Amino acid sequence: MDNNMLIRELVSKYDTPLFVYDLTVVHERIRDLASHLHAAIQLFYSLKANPNATLVHEIHKSGVQLEVCSPYEYRTAIRCGVKPGEMMYLGPGKRTEDIVEALDGGVGYFIVESLDELDVVNEWSAATGKQVGIGLRVNPSQTIQGSKLKMGGISRQFGIDEDVLDKAVERAQCTGRVHIYGLHVYYGTRILDADVIISNTESVLDIAGRFMRKYGIRLQYLGIGGGMGVPYFAAEQKLDSRKLVAGINERVSRFIASFGPIKFMMESGRFLVAEAGDYIAKVVSTKTSKGTHYVILDGGTHHFAAGGGTGSLLKKNFPIDALVDERREMAPQMLAGPLCTPEDLLGRQVEMPLLQKGDLVRIRRTGAYGLTASPVLFLSHRLPREILVWGDQYRLVRDHDEYLFPQVKPIHRP
Ligand SMILES: Cc1ncc(COP(=O)(O)O)c(C=O)c1O
Repeated sequence: MDNNMLIRELVSKYDTPLFVYDLTVVHERIRDLASHLHAAIQLFYSLKANPNATLVHEIHKSGVQLEVCSPYEYRTAIRCGVKPGEMMYLGPGKRTEDIVEALDGGVGYFIVESLDELDVVNEWSAATGKQVGIGLRVNPSQTIQGSKLKMGGISRQFGIDEDVLDKAVERAQCTGRVHIYGLHVYYGTRILDADVIISNTESVLDIAGRFMRKYGIRLQYLGIGGGMGVPYFAAEQKLDSRKLVAGINERVSRFIASFGPIKFMMESGRFLVAEAGDYIAKVVSTKTSKGTHYVILDGGTHHFAAGGGTGSLLKKNFPIDALVDERREMAPQMLAGPLCTPEDLLGRQVEMPLLQKGDLVRIRRTGAYGLTASPVLFLSHRLPREILVWGDQYRLVRDHDEYLFPQVKPIHRP
């Protein structure tokens, strides 16, 4: 968000560190995708990217359905007023009680990731006497290029390998009460090349076509994945969403012409929310150590681990700037957080105005995989508040100490 006056107002009211989410940007991204998609394709928002309940609620109000992966994501979605029948529930580590909760609740698109999960579904239908429709997540035999994080097409803990599908179909059909309504494939994420996602989609459609012919099963839905990325670093190009949508629409139309009507599901977390987020931290102190200039912030990688390059060999800086009005000398600076680890760096040798105590630093494109993908309890610093902004209005949508106050529980010992 470029409105520095508003950010200063938020900081004076709520202090730092802060996550600020701009709802206008989220709506733009939803429009980029959803408003041009083929009518048979439903867009789903992946809560793992940012499960802030108010944000999720607003996304859902814009016509986007929800994809959840855990009991708490599921319950968050319910709190947002979403009917289980509209939700997609997947994820590789569903415990028996999670599966039971989801099936009891009537999740519409329940995606099975293993033969063990199928057994639980069978047991549930035997115990309740109910029929149930499920989707199978398939790990394709064929690999793909162009994804920064591969979830399928190689050896992975996700889904059921394509060459194990015979067994899965047999096991699903053994009671006559469990019906395979759908397939789901997710090749990978952080993809910036529209052609890669289009060719992944083609591959998913091929798998679905082969599946229907081989097993004589008429699928009602097909999860075609997504993986739309956003450019974080210099030299990364924005995804061409028009080209992407046109390419997917064309493949989907052809599929429908061959196989008849079917519902397609596309998932996205990062693309919808990453660019809407700014992380704002304040300079607590500055120092020079052996010739290198350090700026210590009141925020760090415990709130935004990706900013420190967690999971990447090459540590690159996210877009960072300082809210400094007057002209100052420029200098390369290390932006460190308050953690007791040298890895707690949100920026390395960032060329910016020489920062001073009390200055504000803004890290952009932090709306996805911030708090959800960071070691928030490390060193027990307080969590950032989260603010949702629309136009010149805003609202505190999560307070900072909601999780962190430890409570001493009385232990009764003889
Ligand atoms: C199955 C599945 N769906 C959706 C997503 C969301 O990915 P992204 O936030 O990059 O859109 C992921 C990410 O890991 C995933 O594994």
